[in-house]
Amino acid sequence: MNEARPTICIVGGTGHLGSALAVRWASAGYTVRIGSRDGARARAEAARLADRVGREVFGGTNSEAAANADVIVVAVPYSAQRATLEDIRRVVAGKIVVDTTVPLMPPKVMRVQLPSEGCAANIAQSILGPEVRVVSAFQNVAAHRLTSADEIDCDILVFGDDKAARSTVIGLVNAIGLRGLHGGSLANSAAAEALTSVLIFINKTYAVDGAGLRITGNFVPRQPEG
Ligand SMILES: NC(=O)c1ccc[n+]([C@@H]2O[C@H](COP(=O)([O-])OP(=O)(O)OC[C@H]3O[C@@H](n4cnc5c(N)ncnc54)[C@H](OP(=O)(O)O)[C@@H]3O)[C@@H](O)[C@H]2O)c1
Repeated sequence: MNEARPTICIVGGTGHLGSALAVRWASAGYTVRIGSRDGARARAEAARLADRVGREVFGGTNSEAAANADVIVVAVPYSAQRATLEDIRRVVAGKIVVDTTVPLMPPKVMRVQLPSEGCAANIAQSILGPEVRVVSAFQNVAAHRLTSADEIDCDILVFGDDKAARSTVIGLVNAIGLRGLHGGSLANSAAAEALTSVLIFINKTYAVDGAGLRITGNFVPRQPEG
């Protein structure tokens, strides 16, 4: 893997969050492959995104795209998480998989409903197994804010049990103009996943166009604790 500039695959890259992240990373100079259940759909979306950023973007089935990348970002609805991860499992061993899943259970998306496993990120780790370094991120940023060129007033909390993998993902977050913060163990992802329902409630209550999360305080550079 090119540590400085890993190839990024976005599984579910035809969707709202996935396509927005693809544009941001491709614009930042990364090689991006987007995946779909339908390879033709991914190639069409990749061509559309490439037109937009003026740089080649690749498309293929989810497992093709994941097989040819160093870091795999999974951006599919909670209802599709298990089937999608089972589909890519054999090609992601030894890699970093970034899970963005929020366990929303429509129609009550403004109510926190965490799964019995604790959080969606824990589910991802149990499906993918110990050979995959699962990192969880991006639960609290609205996809349409990422699509806009405006500055995004939102921090990205990054969780994972492998500190080096977390640091790699924080680097990828920073590369697209956002501040990534170590949030601790993968199980702590429950906090960010739960907050999404709170943010959706705030959007509705105060007519906010994509409320985000900002952590305040005086940050001094230091090595995070595990
Ligand atoms: N949207 C946001 O603002 C946002 C923000 C933070 C976190 N998230 C989280 O990010 C994830 C993706 O959200 P999204 O809004 O981008 O989702 P989305 O646009 O509804 O779906 C993303 C992609 O998932 C695939 N997909 C949809 N239904 C599927 C199914 N039943 N089985 C397998 N694949 C399916 C589709 O790709 P193909 O049909 O091409 O396979 C689709 O383009 C979710 O877990 C969400 O909670 C979203």
